[in-house]
Amino acid sequence: MKATTLPKFGLFLCSGHEEVKMKVASALITAVAAFTAYYVYRPMPSTVSEPWKLMLLDATFRCAQDLCNLADYFGLGHHLKILHYMSSFEKNDPVSSGNLKVTDTIFDGVEVRVFEPSSEPHGTLKRSIVYIHGGGWALASARSSTYDGLCRKVSEEVNAVVVSIEYRLVPDVHFPTPLNDVLTATKYFLHPDVLQKYSVDPDRIAVSGDSAGGNLAAAVCQQLTENPNQTIKLKLQALVYPALQILDFNTPSYQQNTDMPVLSRLGMIKYWLDYLNVSLALTHSMLVNNHTSLDSGETVALRERLNWNTLLPVSFKKNYKPVVQSIGNPSLVQKFPALLDARASPLIATKETLQLLPKTYILTCEHDVLRDDGTMFAKRLQEAGIDVTHDHYDDGFHGCMSFTTWPTYFLVGARARDGYVKWLKENL
Ligand SMILES: *[C@@H]1O[C@H](CO)[C@@H](O)[C@H](O)[C@H]1NC(C)=O
Ligand SMILES: *[C@@H]1O[C@H](CO)[C@@H](O)[C@H](O)[C@H]1NC(C)=O
Ligand SMILES: *[C@@H]1O[C@H](CO)[C@@H](O)[C@H](O)[C@H]1NC(C)=O
Repeated sequence: MKATTLPKFGLFLCSGHEEVKMKVASALITAVAAFTAYYVYRPMPSTVSEPWKLMLLDATFRCAQDLCNLADYFGLGHHLKILHYMSSFEKNDPVSSGNLKVTDTIFDGVEVRVFEPSSEPHGTLKRSIVYIHGGGWALASARSSTYDGLCRKVSEEVNAVVVSIEYRLVPDVHFPTPLNDVLTATKYFLHPDVLQKYSVDPDRIAVSGDSAGGNLAAAVCQQLTENPNQTIKLKLQALVYPALQILDFNTPSYQQNTDMPVLSRLGMIKYWLDYLNVSLALTHSMLVNNHTSLDSGETVALRERLNWNTLLPVSFKKNYKPVVQSIGNPSLVQKFPALLDARASPLIATKETLQLLPKTYILTCEHDVLRDDGTMFAKRLQEAGIDVTHDHYDDGFHGCMSFTTWPTYFLVGARARDGYVKWLKENL
């Protein structure tokens, strides 16, 4: 049977049965068109940098995400773990170059990658940056080409020792473990003898990070500044489109950029819930701010600290209306004390804490759900008397600074990175 069917089938396709060929071709075209319509075509604001390229990037991301959710559904593993595996298969070994020594080592139990520019004439101390990579507390790595590349660039251009922290990720660990990893490694680095080993000037050290790494950088900076035992202090904090609060998912930027690549509002809420080890079943409750309704007691006072009606400029508020529920889900706050924790939401720190913080750089992008987190933090810091530089990119989108190499090179990404490096050079 088989022997006769197979050649027939082959013949069938190759011998010019035009009608079938047409059918196959038209089915293929329909499939590609449907795929394109579903995955690729998403209207983008005309003001965003290189909208077509962004659409393609976004399609790739969503496709990967859907595959991971599918794999999770079929029990192959946690969706974040699969995504992490897919996105960081290119973990690189440390490679030194002519003017840069790169090593992987351990700081008090925490893995770090250290980038050291070649030595100055004897006795000259260098500046230093502790860098915390982004990726929703769940993705990426200090060893991925993206962050290895960024830290090389920063180390070379600023001529600074860069310590990039390989903190443990969700879902293997949850809040506050990633933060504690970062804190442990940073504290270790700030010991006088360790600084001496790396020829680092104790008065010229910054902490920095992007996205979830910006969240960790801001939290670490507050922890270290508040700790009276910490004698060597950070000189600067530099936060790149940081995630800074979990109390309001309806800021104007969350409302405006609900479906923007590379980070949607639902995506950001899910990263938060996974980080805090809270069930994803609460996503929709938090989306409507049921966790900070007026009957939720403690959160009401905290929301005053992110009252965007007073903290944002009119050009950001546009015509968006605050979403405040009078009756919500108050039991959430009892179940998840992290909702009230400034170590998770550095934006809700008290004014007394903010007053102690060092000079600050904040980068925000217009087409980013997190734009207002960073903007409100800049404003609160200024009100507390801190010297803040706020660089806002009208054509920027979340994560753009990570897209500066072919085939995902974005002009706005390169501009944002160069502006960030320039500020560090001038202020560190
Ligand atoms: C400071 O050091 C003292 C003595 O070692 C310790 O008891 C205290 O908990 C430390 N404080 C902080 C905030 O780490
Ligand atoms: C996270 O939540 C799960 C289920 O509620 C629990 O079993 C686990 O111990 C939690 N993990 C941490 C680190 O809190
Ligand atoms: C928000 O809370 C109200 C009052 O408890 C409830 O009726 C509503 O279903 C909640 N919304 C969501 C999306 O959970």
